[in-house]
Amino acid sequence: MKIKTVEFIKSAVQTAHYPEYDFPEIAFAGRSNVGKSSLINTLIQRKNMVKTSSKPGCTQLINFFLVNEDLSFVDLPGYGYAKVSKKIRAQWQPMIERYLSHRKSLLGLVLLIDIRRDPAKEEFDMIEWLESNKKPYLVILTKSDKLSKTKQEKRRIAICSQIDRDKSGVILFSSKTKKGRETILNEIESLIGGSL
Ligand code: GTP
Ligand code: MG
Repeated sequence: MKIKTVEFIKSAVQTAHYPEYDFPEIAFAGRSNVGKSSLINTLIQRKNMVKTSSKPGCTQLINFFLVNEDLSFVDLPGYGYAKVSKKIRAQWQPMIERYLSHRKSLLGLVLLIDIRRDPAKEEFDMIEWLESNKKPYLVILTKSDKLSKTKQEKRRIAICSQIDRDKSGVILFSSKTKKGRETILNEIESLIGGSL
């Protein structure tokens, strides 16, 4: 898939404020600081279209982007970051859950996991939700540049076995080196398949 145009549409918290278009939508989810916003910037080849930060908890709203005028990308706030206040955490989890359960045009999800961490309850819960709701998903191992090539492959095999998923559905990625960009775009294209 080639990215020709990208437009930031809006940020939302409540379902009533989501864009009303019903283009097929791909959401990016994962722990805070895992690199969701950086991945979207890399895919769309804009350095700062989506705000990123070395401090976890950067994305606090659901951000909608229109790609090629017929596909929607959604940057979700991260989950699982202990240091944001309890109050904020108590708002985020329902915000993400509401999005997942209400957004009819949600076609599939890109689940990001830091290559150096083992999947935890949040990831297993997300995978269980995706499978029980028959939503296709990709698993992306982010920050692969932090490990040697040999270690990257070892981690990939280990994570594949933990989440019981074939190697082809688990992609190594780095927003520093752009490794994996083309593969992810191609996978997204086959995921949306006939929906465009
Ligand atoms: P929240 O919005 O807080 O949920 O975080 P996020 O998942 O959107 O992460 P973000 O893209 O803001 O990146 C967090 C930090 O990790 C930033 O300092 C990025 O520069 C860094 N980062 C993201 N991707 C990579 C990567 O592939 N390699 C390396 N080395 N650093 C990365
Ligand atoms: Mg973010």
